[in-house]
Amino acid sequence: MRTAVCPGSFDPVTNGHVDIVRRAARLFDEVVVAVGTNVSKSRLFAPEERLEMLTEAMADLPNVRIAGFQGLIVEFCRDIGAVAIVKGLRGATDYEYELPMAQMNSHLTDVETVFVPGATRNAFVSSSLIKEVAAFGGDVTGLVPPAVHDRLLARLAERAAARAEG
Ligand code: PNS
Repeated sequence: MRTAVCPGSFDPVTNGHVDIVRRAARLFDEVVVAVGTNVSKSRLFAPEERLEMLTEAMADLPNVRIAGFQGLIVEFCRDIGAVAIVKGLRGATDYEYELPMAQMNSHLTDVETVFVPGATRNAFVSSSLIKEVAAFGGDVTGLVPPAVHDRLLARLAERAAARAEG
């Protein structure tokens, strides 16, 4: 069985992520969506929440499972016997960012990175942009799974209320 890993922060999962995982699931026997839980960055959603939203978003993909990881992604791949990391590319900037990581991961182990072009409809979709636009009241409907949309608006409202209380 050939297993691939789709790693990311998924804070939160977007339709761009779902598209890439769906494509990866056609190429490999099993895909593990790996949620990085290293504590370096501040996140809108806790690791368990990100895992929950991914589980819902990928529910119709029988050969996809969701897991958390800490430390190096290649170590996680080794632990579960994955042969590849799958990353989506929206354009040249993603490639410039991803290439050194792919080369480093290939230097460290024999885990190869496979780049998959994302659908053009998601070319501008990123978790960070979605959070920024939604925080200022912009409409992000159709850019994230519906359940994520609801949780995102609820979390942003909570944050705004907490800030207003001082
Ligand atoms: O969604 P993101 O924030 O682009 O995901 C980044 C992630 C989690 C995939 C990346 O930071 C990662 O692989 N982190 C694990 C630590 C690691 O292996 N770092 C070396 C990469 S060469």
